[in-house]
Amino acid sequence: MSANGTDNSTSKKPPSPSPLRFSKFFQSNMRILVTGGAGFIGSHLVDKLMENEKNEVIVVDNYFTGTKDNLKKWIGHPRFELIRHDVTEPLLIEVDQIYHLACPASPIFYKYNPVKTIKTNVIGTLNMLGLAKRVGARILLTSTSEVYGDPLEHPQTESYWGNVNPIGVRSCYDEGKRVAETLMFDYHRQHGIEIRIARIFNTYGPRMNIDDGRVVSNFIAQALRNEPLTVQLPGTQTRSFCYVSDMVRCSNSCSKSNYFTYECHLILIFFVLINQG
Ligand SMILES: NC(=O)c1ccc[n+]([C@@H]2O[C@H](COP(=O)([O-])OP(=O)(O)OC[C@H]3O[C@@H](n4cnc5c(N)ncnc54)[C@H](O)[C@@H]3O)[C@@H](O)[C@H]2O)c1
Repeated sequence: MSANGTDNSTSKKPPSPSPLRFSKFFQSNMRILVTGGAGFIGSHLVDKLMENEKNEVIVVDNYFTGTKDNLKKWIGHPRFELIRHDVTEPLLIEVDQIYHLACPASPIFYKYNPVKTIKTNVIGTLNMLGLAKRVGARILLTSTSEVYGDPLEHPQTESYWGNVNPIGVRSCYDEGKRVAETLMFDYHRQHGIEIRIARIFNTYGPRMNIDDGRVVSNFIAQALRNEPLTVQLPGTQTRSFCYVSDMVRCSNSCSKSNYFTYECHLILIFFVLINQG
């Protein structure tokens, strides 16, 4: 992600990669850490990464919203490791790449314990950046469209800085992710860490939590239960949707600079599509 009107060039040299990178083992394998890998997007990312036989994948997750069930096909696989760990605690391992996803994404869950949510975003991201710095790993952060807050511009471009309430009930997530992005860029400028930030919009697909309270799961759950679909007034809200496999394809290209755009859809059109089956 490019910076928004600021100079992000770094005069510092990147940190030296871990000496393990030059070992016989690392020449054939890429060791990849996925935080939050037991969650919805994380587990699909793990599936994608495991397709490459040269990858070794380590998942850390505290199972707040994720579940081992999402990863059951990999448990016991020689190239896969699952660690119960909370990213607010430091983690000492050797990896080449970090995909840092750990954080509840649904308002129902991130508002449940807002202090924990902001700790996960701030302390968790600091811990992962500390790890990236120590071992010379590249790191990708999954940020969110919520960094734009209640945007005054539509659609939002990366040069837009957002309109965010710092003291609202969603701030633990919105401001937490904004600080996480700041930390990413500060580590890049100060320590030469290689960073990627993906600002994700509404993602949907298999394994999403049916009770996560967002529009896609709400509509589908109501349709499956033969209940009337609830449209929040005024019904003219827009959302940008992305299917999870497209999201993973983008995030998986951790080594490339990636941009893709989302189209905005009226919630009412989505309502009509679901309603008509
Ligand atoms: N799904 C979306 O539409 C969407 C939109 C914008 C951003 N994102 C971002 O994408 C990432 C993944 O979202 P998701 O939809 O898969 O959510 P999810 O809730 O399904 O997955 C999050 C995972 O992180 C784990 N986790 C939470 N706190 C943790 C902690 N302190 N330590 C270790 N693990 C922890 C959870 O147990 C879960 O497995 C999140 O960073 C989220 O902010 C998602």
